Amino acid sequence: MNIKLNYWLIFRRTDMFSIQSLIENIRQKISLQMVNSFEVEIIISRVTGISRASIKARIEQHIDATHAQQIIKLCQQRAEGVPIAYLFNEREFWGLSLYVDERVLIPRHETELIIEYCLEKYALDSLVRCIDLGTGSGAIALALAKNFSKWEITAVDQSKSALVVAKNNANNLQIDNVQFIQSSWFQQVEQKQFDLIISNPPYIAENDQHLQKGDLRYEPYQALAAKHNGLKALQEIILSSPHYLVLGGMLILEHGYDQGDAVQQLLKEQGFSSILTHQDYASLDRYTTAIR
Ligand SMILES: C[S@@+](CC[C@H](N)C(=O)[O-])C[C@H]1O[C@@H](n2cnc3c(N)ncnc32)[C@H](O)[C@@H]1O
Repeated sequence: MNIKLNYWLIFRRTDMFSIQSLIENIRQKISLQMVNSFEVEIIISRVTGISRASIKARIEQHIDATHAQQIIKLCQQRAEGVPIAYLFNEREFWGLSLYVDERVLIPRHETELIIEYCLEKYALDSLVRCIDLGTGSGAIALALAKNFSKWEITAVDQSKSALVVAKNNANNLQIDNVQFIQSSWFQQVEQKQFDLIISNPPYIAENDQHLQKGDLRYEPYQALAAKHNGLKALQEIILSSPHYLVLGGMLILEHGYDQGDAVQQLLKEQGFSSILTHQDYASLDRYTTAIR
């Protein structure tokens, strides 16, 4: 679906609009289904600097034509389907502000559960050699690096352009205990001994209808979809991990809500123990942990 909305008012630079009249104008042009009220408020807040919480109280406040036009353009792009995170090139992950664009997956809040789990399992001053397979924006690697300053973290991605984004995020956040490698999973990784392997790999089946809907249409296909009904990347990682994990080391894999059993089976076949599938905020299977 690519809806083009080319019937906006042309403003004079001197025109002023109340927030209320602007919202009414947007509502006349775009249905709630295409841009909901929450999103309109986020857009107004980001453009004007007025906090979202105080928009309703300041609904009569006037804003200038340049801001009004910017807000309308962004609402138009959102109506066409562009995710909010790509509109503003920003996503918050575990308290870190990450730059994101169409080169990388938008990190999901559910993935923060993996960071929470690591914080429960490892002491802040622990020394852990960790690898994040398929780092994308760097979300997992950078959140771990920020919390565990002594960890040696390797972050790999097959996508060169994703790594550019991840490295920029590391620089912006002044994080220097992550090294980035372009590699298909472990292929270019020379280090053989890790204490912890983490991955949120692509796991959506190639024929899944969700790939044609919502934000997913704008995210990199190779970050989302995998062959073998979505299991190929998980299979490859589980098969290689025993060669790179020390005895007693941990593997943490994010996966689809209906892939917990398959992942557990694959881990058993590779001799992993203490295999546990964990649920997300919606009580759906989200990630599995196992010990070599
Ligand atoms: C679901 S995204 C996860 C991104 C990030 N870790 C996160 O949680 O937001 C999967 C990532 O795996 C990468 N990827 C896909 N196939 C790969 C492969 N064979 N080797 C390395 N990375 C791969 C994609 O480029 C993408 O960045």
